[in-house]
Amino acid sequence: MSKNKRIVSGIQPTGNLHLGNYLGAIRNWVVMQNEMKEGDDCVFFLADLHAITMPQAPDALAENVRNMAATLLASGIDPKQAIFFAQSDVAAHSEMAWLLNCVARIGWLNRMTQFKEKSGKNREGASVGLYTYPVLQAADVMLYQATHVPVGEDQKQHLELARDIATKFNNDYDEKIFNLPEPIIQKTAARVMSLRNGSSKMSKSDPSDLSRINLTDSNDDIAQKIRKAKTDPDPIPENESGLTDRPEAKNLLGIYSALKGVAINNVLQQFAGQGFGQFKPELAELVVSSVGPIRDKLSTFKDDPAEIDRILLAGAEKAAVIAEETLKKAYQVMGLRRRA
Ligand code: TYM
Repeated sequence: MSKNKRIVSGIQPTGNLHLGNYLGAIRNWVVMQNEMKEGDDCVFFLADLHAITMPQAPDALAENVRNMAATLLASGIDPKQAIFFAQSDVAAHSEMAWLLNCVARIGWLNRMTQFKEKSGKNREGASVGLYTYPVLQAADVMLYQATHVPVGEDQKQHLELARDIATKFNNDYDEKIFNLPEPIIQKTAARVMSLRNGSSKMSKSDPSDLSRINLTDSNDDIAQKIRKAKTDPDPIPENESGLTDRPEAKNLLGIYSALKGVAINNVLQQFAGQGFGQFKPELAELVVSSVGPIRDKLSTFKDDPAEIDRILLAGAEKAAVIAEETLKKAYQVMGLRRRA
């Protein structure tokens, strides 16, 4: 008999959900949730403790948590099927992160590319939390004994670290306490790029709003952002080799392929020889028809913040039961007194 799946993933509640998050991760969460078999579980959360590794205005953070919750519910996360909560409502995440901080090695964290990118030239001024952030992420998945973690390509290195930490913990304490989580990365939209620069990923933190399509954008905004998206003057090629060194062209065609659910080669055959002036309106129509219904549902959730708080707290209670069980075992094997 095959083992039950425990699917675990998180998203930072900073800014709006954009098309990169949606295609790279969230759409996959919803598919996995809807295809769960009996005995499987989905655990999805808003990584608010991760968000504070960078400066956050307290009021804005509290509002962003509710907004992101509303967006995920509008995208199809169903709290009756999935355990859905905010990370800071389950104290076990912080506790487990400390235990794992004492297992993870500095050399491992020094290799994390996201820390290098996010701290930039101001490494000495970055928070210690930003540095140990991947350890908190390891705690997030290890607490639930995750088997599968659906994420975009940019999180792969963090997941590999989680596997290293789990392996070292199991070896150090001679117990198979933790499962080794497998990352699940969608090939078609593993890395959706900025609409202004095909060599940097679409991101909430990009200062230009024209660089991303938010799930809250109006149809007009979407059409305008796609019209203004950077491209090149060459026509659309017949096959993928014709996209080499054309990151912006590749990105727009990749978004079309992911949203339509057809292979990139089929998209290329359909549009071969056309310029981007012809292709962009088709893409805009497809994005509007995918994002529009989510945005429209979102407003009903946003109108009822008390209901969102109720959903998140109910999810946190369920999550805490699973998380506490693992946390207790970890304390115990480490020889610590709490909950002995
Ligand atoms: P975050 O909030 O940056 O992004 C959420 C999810 O969206 C994916 N993603 C993308 N995929 C494709 N193209 C893009 N341009 C793009 N931008 C973002 C991310 O890979 C991610 O899957 N550290 C995580 C949150 C986290 C987490 C976890 C994830 C905290 N704990 C435990 C998995 C398991 C983050 O900052 O994701």
